[in-house]
Amino acid sequence: MADESMVRTLGAQANAIWPQEVDLFARYRLPPEPRILDAGCGTGEIASRLAQLYPRARVLGVDIIDAHLALARSRYAGLAPRLTFEHQSIFELPMPDGTFDLTVCRHVLHSIPFPERVIAELARVTRPGGVLHLLPEDYDMLHFQRAALDPRDFWHAAAPAFGAATHTDLFIGRHAFGILATLGLDDIRVDYVVVDTLRVPRETFATIIEAWRDGYVDSIGKLTSFTRDQAVAYFTQMLATIRDPRQYAAWIVPVVSARVPSIGPG
Ligand SMILES: C[S@@+](CC[C@H](N)C(=O)[O-])C[C@H]1O[C@@H](n2cnc3c(N)ncnc32)[C@H](O)[C@@H]1O
Repeated sequence: MADESMVRTLGAQANAIWPQEVDLFARYRLPPEPRILDAGCGTGEIASRLAQLYPRARVLGVDIIDAHLALARSRYAGLAPRLTFEHQSIFELPMPDGTFDLTVCRHVLHSIPFPERVIAELARVTRPGGVLHLLPEDYDMLHFQRAALDPRDFWHAAAPAFGAATHTDLFIGRHAFGILATLGLDDIRVDYVVVDTLRVPRETFATIIEAWRDGYVDSIGKLTSFTRDQAVAYFTQMLATIRDPRQYAAWIVPVVSARVPSIGPG
């Protein structure tokens, strides 16, 4: 994805999702000075919100795109040194086992091959009794009113083709539970944030879909049966739906959490 559209996506997604997601953290019963990892932190939108939510926490955001890390450091310099950002791959983190009380990984698992290896690595660096909080996207959970085009045709065909071409699972949202269960994690929960035209300002929702359009139509044209122009036409119609007060659209976003067992997985 082009960097500029990714930055736009992350800002709008945080504005749309965080207000519903934030209440889920209350149930994790973290220590007063928790250590928190934001794995694949992007521009630090959520690492910074976590640092504000837990005023005595130490929060580390890691990513492999230096431009994102630089933006995060400059935007949230006021929260340093409690909030830091480092270049690290979530496939192989340099910390010892059990370092963090809470490990967060949002909007990442659908975009990488072997997501189960990353989830295992995140469980490794989380202490026994600590919590994994994942936001694994699922591209079969987007619902748009039908008009001249039926957006179901687009999402149902484009998402599997895109995933197959990029060796990624664009339906990881429904598979995360099974991966966590296989790893032997406890207290697995699946909640949903509903980004729809009733709960989220229409323009915020539209900003997300516009940024996806700008970031992905070229690749969709190359990797799926849709041409670039066809992809643009579907996005144009979906945006019109979102902006029309008489129409409805929804993006259902799974939030999957689990606790690392006190006696160790397996
Ligand atoms: C869509 S962004 C999500 C950013 C952030 N988690 C949020 O919720 O705003 C996905 C991020 O995952 C990062 N990423 C992808 N593979 C990674 C890896 N192996 N290690 C660390 N970060 C990775 C990308 O660089 C990108 O910044």
